[in-house]
Amino acid sequence: MIFVQTKKEMDESIKLLKKNSDKISLVPTMGNLHEGHLSLIELAKKYSSKVIVSIFVNPLQFGENEDFHKYPRTLEKDMKKLIDKKCDLLFFPKSEQEIFPETHIIKKINSGKLGNILCGEKRPGHFDGVLTVVHQLFSLIKPNIAVFGAKDYQQQILIRDMSKKFFPKIKIIVGPIIRDKNGLALSSRNTYLTKKEKEIAPFLFKSLKQGIKYYKENNDVNFTKKEVKNMLINKGIEVDYLEIRDNHLNNLDNTNKRNKKIFLGSIRLGNTKLIDNIEFF
Ligand code: PAF
Repeated sequence: MIFVQTKKEMDESIKLLKKNSDKISLVPTMGNLHEGHLSLIELAKKYSSKVIVSIFVNPLQFGENEDFHKYPRTLEKDMKKLIDKKCDLLFFPKSEQEIFPETHIIKKINSGKLGNILCGEKRPGHFDGVLTVVHQLFSLIKPNIAVFGAKDYQQQILIRDMSKKFFPKIKIIVGPIIRDKNGLALSSRNTYLTKKEKEIAPFLFKSLKQGIKYYKENNDVNFTKKEVKNMLINKGIEVDYLEIRDNHLNNLDNTNKRNKKIFLGSIRLGNTKLIDNIEFF
């Protein structure tokens, strides 16, 4: 695996990789890699001959009181996993400047209305930060394909929209949520959970599943949200939001009953925010 830490090295390696392969995929991550990330690398391999993974804990997507400083940084372990997965290149910028060289020439992306609902309402500026870093990575690496996880549903929709506008040639692929045996969606932030919190965290997935049953029986979004919220609160879980939306996160209207829908939830366990979602018809 090639290990690259500067923009200059990245430019050179990209030229080389592109010369020797037809398609290159990028899997952007913030590290602390788990089976969810590794499944995205597997998926990337199906679509391309070379896979690049980036690990960069992006300061722009963390709010002032969020976990930027304590976000798990596990480079050595991550590198072992990437070598095992036969990743071709790891981009691990040695400093922020390698990604955001001169602030005045960076294209700051505004995530608009869609970036300010759901997770964006709770984390102002978060999606602007995500889109800005992904825009920078796309500009630098110019992959043919980029792969993201379905757990961050709102993020992947926003990235698709941004990419369509600025990088129409990049194909965006979304890999399914990978779960523990108990249903908990894998996330780098699960490492923050205490033993007790780990026991109740899978209840988010269980409640969303139950909610879909209620919704199919009653066709009533508000009733479903209320029932599921009560289930979670009874387990001592603080609910940020629960929403049933169409697959582009618009409110449902009665004309699209047969279309794909999504039930999304965000909860807090102690200081840890967990999100999950289930798509259904
Ligand atoms: O999903 C993530 O890990 C991050 O939001 C991303 C896409 C790597 C941007 O920093």
